[in-house]
Amino acid sequence: MKEKARLISDIILSKKRVHIVSHIDADGITSASIAYRALERAGKEQTVEFIKQLDESKIQDIREQNHEMVWFTDLGSGQLSSLKGVNCVITDHHEPDGDAPPSSGDRENILSYCNTINELNPHRYGLDGAKEISGAGTTYLVARAMSEENKDLSKLAIIGAVGDLQTSEDGRLVGENRQILEDSIEEGVVEKRIDTTLYGLASRPIQKVLEYASDPVLPGLTGDESNCVNFLVKNDIPLKKNDDWRNWHDLLKEEKRTILSELVKRILKKGYPSENARSLIGEIYIFPGEEKGTMLYQAKEFSTLLNSCGRYEKGKIGMKVCLGDRDEYLEKAKKLLLGHQRTLVDCLDYVESIGVEEREYFQFFHGEDRIPDTVIGTVAGMVLGSGEIDRKLPIFAFANSHERDGIKVSSRGTKQLVDKGLDLSDVMSDCAKELGGEGGGHDIAAGALIPEGREEEFLDLVGKKIQSQMD
Ligand code: C5P
Ligand code: C5P
Ligand code: ZN
Repeated sequence: MKEKARLISDIILSKKRVHIVSHIDADGITSASIAYRALERAGKEQTVEFIKQLDESKIQDIREQNHEMVWFTDLGSGQLSSLKGVNCVITDHHEPDGDAPPSSGDRENILSYCNTINELNPHRYGLDGAKEISGAGTTYLVARAMSEENKDLSKLAIIGAVGDLQTSEDGRLVGENRQILEDSIEEGVVEKRIDTTLYGLASRPIQKVLEYASDPVLPGLTGDESNCVNFLVKNDIPLKKNDDWRNWHDLLKEEKRTILSELVKRILKKGYPSENARSLIGEIYIFPGEEKGTMLYQAKEFSTLLNSCGRYEKGKIGMKVCLGDRDEYLEKAKKLLLGHQRTLVDCLDYVESIGVEEREYFQFFHGEDRIPDTVIGTVAGMVLGSGEIDRKLPIFAFANSHERDGIKVSSRGTKQLVDKGLDLSDVMSDCAKELGGEGGGHDIAAGALIPEGREEEFLDLVGKKIQSQMD
């Protein structure tokens, strides 16, 4: 991949003006920010555009704009055959459409194939694009090839990978992501630690981290603030320092150890699986250059902030924050986050009220007009991870998409299902195509747009396709 990154870097450096087209989520926003900064440092002129999906009509628009060069980040590989004749480079990690690379491990063979297209994608090198490197990661490899100075941008690649849920169950980044992590640690922009995997460590008071814990659920504590406060008091953990609430990163090592061992005991005593106790602890990534009590201090929270921008079509606000704004745009992003969290709570309540329907090979629900198409994927993932439904079946979720005149579909699976043969990218792309729509993504998470009123037909196709994959 490094060699290919250099080739793409040479192409980019030979241009004067580059138009960046990126996906509007945390990984896409960090990808665009890496490309933007690398181009700026190379003295190029650059423009940026964020999109939800690269469909035929979008490709047509881009074609008509006649850019000297387009840099697609965190998208493009799924539409490779439609991009013929567009003067572009692609740094992506979605499953590519069109020709598969030679399957033999012959390096020369693979390289000569890969060098015929200006695309950097882990799938071409036998790597797992859902786990080993993200869109921001592939973009970083090119930025790194453009100049050694861009090594600091590895921080953004870490946020992108974490935002795309590429970490393993123990929180660790693996594969190519691990190399990028090494860069970021060498550069002093990221630190890795073994700590708790609970969410909100940097920006929430400790009692709120416990109260809002959902993965894993903390028996007797999740959802009950006064119990959380009592729990901390009983264990001699002061809640405040002077007049401020303490957050997790303010705690002493011994205090953390006390809390975690008490939590583990509680989980086991209540008969929850030992797996839940184990998943409390893992590798986390923090940013020493950011202020401690803010969302920007830890990769998980930073990426949530960016996703909040993306979901409401404010990718550029997220990009300003990635590029260093800690003022006006950070405030805007925080406002979007509050709205995002409220939307998600409403959507989850709605799914609870309608229920999830099970079929033989999958389960599904329809968000109709009650769940915005921009968050349906996030909601589907949260429902599958909620512990309230069967994780033995992949989940499909529909939402009306007025803007795009169709039905948005999101699907999410588990590692266990993928190990058994499930490939949601193929399911989505084949079944949507059959109805005149389009889809794609990763084996474990994929999306599609299908024509209105065809949901049942789509589900029939999905059932057959999954059956054939899992046989
Ligand atoms: O388009 P993109 O590649 O950026 O997004 C990847 C999507 O896959 C994200 O929505 C992420 O939450 C989802 N995902 C998942 N579970 C995984 C890996 C990715 O839900 N294990
Ligand atoms: O939209 P959703 O979050 O469900 O998408 C899951 C994954 O599938 C993301 O990585 C997204 O970029 C990808 N996707 C795609 N083509 C589509 C729709 C989604 O590659 N038409
Ligand atoms: Zn991505």
